[in-house]
Amino acid sequence: MAIRRALKTDISSIRRVAMAAYDKYIYNLYVKDEIDLAFDKFSPYDLKMFVATNENLKIVAFGAVGRSMFMNNVFELRLAATHPKHINNGYYRQITETRLEYIKNASKGLGALVQVSTKIPQVYEGFIDVFTNNLGYHCLQKII
Ligand SMILES: CC(C)(COP(=O)(O)OP(=O)(O)OC[C@H]1O[C@@H](n2cnc3c(N)ncnc32)[C@H](O)[C@@H]1OP(=O)(O)O)[C@@H](O)C(=O)NCCC(=O)NCCS
Repeated sequence: MAIRRALKTDISSIRRVAMAAYDKYIYNLYVKDEIDLAFDKFSPYDLKMFVATNENLKIVAFGAVGRSMFMNNVFELRLAATHPKHINNGYYRQITETRLEYIKNASKGLGALVQVSTKIPQVYEGFIDVFTNNLGYHCLQKII
């Protein structure tokens, strides 16, 4: 497994993983647009994309980090997915570790607030569970 920043040429592979991982409704509702935003240099959102590759250098998972436009050093762990053929191999956990490392570096040691909305809070060690919405998503926060 290797994790790296996504290149513009990775966009079709990321879409392929996302289409397999999310149901069609959710993919069309917001996933597709958010992937596009990560590669749109004119987008007002600061969204960075990471990809995980397998031993054949094929992209099998991805995850994004968003940075608040309004408050310094406030970050969100955004979309992340693993292709269903490659789940339970630690890709999501490793991409999440890489995203947290990225945030630590980007906040230049000044401290950062990291937020995530997730249905699997157990992956996020040390995060505080702030609330759970009525769709079952936990809003978690951590200072790093
Ligand atoms: C959820 C998802 C990202 C997991 O990817 P993955 O690469 O298989 O995850 P990992 O192998 O890194 O597993 C991470 C941990 O989460 C657990 N986990 C993974 N999917 C889970 C699920 N659906 N429910 C509960 N726990 C789950 C694993 O057991 C593992 O725990 P462990 O390390 O203690 O064994 C993947 O199934 C997916 O893309 N789902 C659809 C998209 C999605 O829901 N993304 C947002 C997640 S909030």
